[in-house]
Amino acid sequence: MPRLTIEDLRGKRAAARTAHRRQDGAFTGRILVHMGTCGVAAGAQNVLAAVRDELEKTVITNIQVVTTGCAGFCSREPMMTVEMWDLPAVKYGDLSPEKVRRVVAEHVADGNIVAECAICVGSEQALQGSTAEMLTFAPSETPPQVPWVSNLPFFSKQALVVLRNKAIIDPEKIEDYIARDGYAALEKVLAGLTPERVIEEITRAGLRGRGGAGFPTGTKWRVCRAEKKTPKYIIGNCDEGDPGAYMDRSLLESDPHSVIEGMSIAAYAIGASRGYVYVRSEYPLAIQRLQGALIQARDYGLLGEKALGSSFDFDIEIREGSGAFVCGEETSLIHSIEGEIPEPRQRPPFPAQVGLWGCPTVINNVETLANVPVIITRGAEWYSGIGTTASKGTKIFSLVGKINNTGLIEVPMGITLREIVNEIGGGIPGNKQFKAVQTGGPSGGCIPSSLIDLPIDYENLKEAGAMMGSGGMIVMDEDTCMVDVSKFFIQFTNDESCGKCSACREGSDALLEVLTRITNGEGRDGDVEFLEELGHAVKDASMCGLGQTLPNPVLSTLKYFRDEYVAHIKDKNCPAKVCKPLVKYYIDPDKCPGCTLCLKNCPAGAVKGETKHVHVIDQATCTKCGECLEICPPKVSAVVKLSGKEAQELQSLPSPIPVREWRARRAAETGTGVRRTP
Ligand SMILES: Cc1cc2nc3c(=O)[nH]c(=O)nc-3n(C[C@H](O)[C@H](O)[C@H](O)COP(=O)(O)O)c2cc1C
Ligand code: SF4
Ligand code: SF4
Repeated sequence: MPRLTIEDLRGKRAAARTAHRRQDGAFTGRILVHMGTCGVAAGAQNVLAAVRDELEKTVITNIQVVTTGCAGFCSREPMMTVEMWDLPAVKYGDLSPEKVRRVVAEHVADGNIVAECAICVGSEQALQGSTAEMLTFAPSETPPQVPWVSNLPFFSKQALVVLRNKAIIDPEKIEDYIARDGYAALEKVLAGLTPERVIEEITRAGLRGRGGAGFPTGTKWRVCRAEKKTPKYIIGNCDEGDPGAYMDRSLLESDPHSVIEGMSIAAYAIGASRGYVYVRSEYPLAIQRLQGALIQARDYGLLGEKALGSSFDFDIEIREGSGAFVCGEETSLIHSIEGEIPEPRQRPPFPAQVGLWGCPTVINNVETLANVPVIITRGAEWYSGIGTTASKGTKIFSLVGKINNTGLIEVPMGITLREIVNEIGGGIPGNKQFKAVQTGGPSGGCIPSSLIDLPIDYENLKEAGAMMGSGGMIVMDEDTCMVDVSKFFIQFTNDESCGKCSACREGSDALLEVLTRITNGEGRDGDVEFLEELGHAVKDASMCGLGQTLPNPVLSTLKYFRDEYVAHIKDKNCPAKVCKPLVKYYIDPDKCPGCTLCLKNCPAGAVKGETKHVHVIDQATCTKCGECLEICPPKVSAVVKLSGKEAQELQSLPSPIPVREWRARRAAETGTGVRRTP
C-alpha cells in the first residue's frame, strides 16, 4: 500500500468514519465480542464461535462480527455487545454458547432484548456524548429488567479518555482507530506544531506520569529536548509487574494505536527517531496486537521515514521484558534493552539526560502516552478541566479483590474511594464490611475504611501513606488480616529485590523474618517498633524506587491497623482469623448432630466421628484448610474458627461420643431437658 500523506489520511478518515457510523448500508447491525485476555480466559473464543455458527445456521448474513479488546467488566466475562442499527446497543454478560444462540435468535433476528443475559442498554461511548444514541433512545424505552447504561454506576461513573476506544474498535484494524479520530493528533502536530508548542500543550494540560510517581510529563520532555546529544530515544513502559495490575496489558490489547500515536508525538517533541515498547513477556496477546498495529502503521506511512509525507522519521520496536519486577524501573529497563543485567543504577543523571546507550531518553508509561493524542486533539484546557488542582485527567485502575464488580475502570482524578468501592465496584460480596484498599502495588499502601471519602489523587494518596502506583487497587474486607497482607507484599519485594543494595536486600529479609514470626504466633515485645524503625531506614538508604517504597505496606498498616499487630504479638490473636498458626477449627458438641459431612470432606482425615456421634477435630492432624467450616450446613453451624484466648482455652472432647449421650450429659450438667436428636 502506498504511504499516506496528511491529505490521504484525511480522506481515509472520512471513508472509515462513514463505515463506522453505519452509513455504508452493507449491514443492519454488528456483534462485538470482547476478547481481551480476561475474556478469552473466561470463554470468549466459544462465544465467538457460537455467534458465527448461529448466524450461519439462521442464514443471517447482514450482521458484522467484530472482535474487540476487554470491555472492562471482568466479573461478567465473557461479554458481547449487540448493536442493531435501529436499536440502542445492549451489553450481554456471563455468556455461554447456549445464551449466545438465544441472543442471536431473539435479539438479532427479532429485535427482542434477552433481559436475563443483558447487563445494560446503551453504550459507554454514548455516555461520553460521542454518539447520538442517548438522544434518540429514552431510558423509558428499555425493558424494566435491564438498566440503562446511565443508571449503572459501573459504567456511568467512569470517564473514558484513555480507554475511549475500548470494546468498540477492532484493535487489529487501523481503519477502526482512524475512524475515531485516530492519528488526527499526529496529523495536527506534523501539519504545523513545533516540538516546543507540543511540549507546552502537554505541560499546560498538567499530564503526570501514570507509571507510579506522577512526574510531570511536559517537564521530562523539555529536559530531554534541551539535551544536545543525539540520537534520542522514547520508551513506552508496559512492564507492569505489580500483583493485581493489568491496566497496561488491557490498553495494548484493546487500543495499541493510541500508544503508537502517543509515542510518535513524544518522539517528535523530544527529537527522537527511534522508540521501544518494553512489554512484559507474559503478555503474548498484547505483544501480538502491538506487532500487528506497528506493521499497519508502517504500511500507512505513519511510522518510518518521512511520516505522512513530512520530514519526521520515526519507528518503534518491541522489546520483551526480562521477567523481574525491577525491570519496570526505568534505569533497570534501559539496562535490559541494552542487553545488560537489568539492575537499577544511581540517578541523577536521569534517563532524560543520559539514558539508552548513554543518549537522552524519555521513558513514559504506556497509559501516559495514550493520553497524549487526546490532549493534542482536544486541547490542554479541555484536559485540565478533568481532575483536581494538582492531578489532572483520569486514571485507569484494575479493581480487584473483595469487590462485587471486578474490572478495569477509568475514573476522573478526585473521585472518592466510596464512589469506587460502593458504586462502581457494587460493594463488598456477602454483605461483609469494607476494611481497606491497597493501592500502588508492592510500593503502595493500605488505605483504611475511615478514609473512604478521600478524593483519589497523587497528593492525597501519598499523604495517606499509599501511592497511585500504576493503578492496581485491591479491595479488602473484614476477613483480611493486615499483618498477613503486609507479609505478602514484603515477600514479593524481597523475592524481587535485585540485591544490589544491602538496605533493600537485608532490610527486606529482616522485615520478612519479623512479619513471619508475628504471623506464626511468635511475635515479641518491641517487634512493632523495630518494623517501624527498619522500614524508615530501608526507605532512606535504598538506591532505587523498589527499596525506597517496599516498606510502604508495612508502614501504612502499622499506621492504621497497629492494634492488629499488637493482638498478634501480645494475645496470639489474629482478629481476622487468617494466620493459620493462630487459629483452630473446632466442632461445637452442642450443635453437632453427627451428619458426617465434615468427616467425609476433610482432606487430612482430621475429623473423627460416625453417624449421630458428636464429631471431633484432631488438632495435631488438622491442616486448617477450612473445608469443614465451608461444608457444615449454615443452619447447623457447628464448625467454628477460633483465635487468641478462645483458641488457647479450647477444651475439645477427647473422642467422638453418641449425640444422645452428649446431650444427656449436658442436660444433667445444666438441669435442662435433652434436645431432640435430628
Ligand atoms: C520497582 C519498580 C518497578 C516499576 N515498574 C514500572 C512499570 O511496570 N511500568 C511503568 O510504567 N513504570 C514502572 N516504574 C516506574 C518507572 O521507573 C518510571 O518512573 C516510569 O515508567 C516513568 O513513566 P511515567 O513518567 O509516564 O510514569 C517502576 C518503578 C520501580 C521502582
Ligand atoms: S533498592 Fe533494591 S532493587 Fe533497587 S537497586 Fe537497591 S537492591 Fe536493587
Ligand atoms: S480445617 Fe481442614 S483439615 Fe482441619 S478438620 Fe477441617 S477440614 Fe479437616
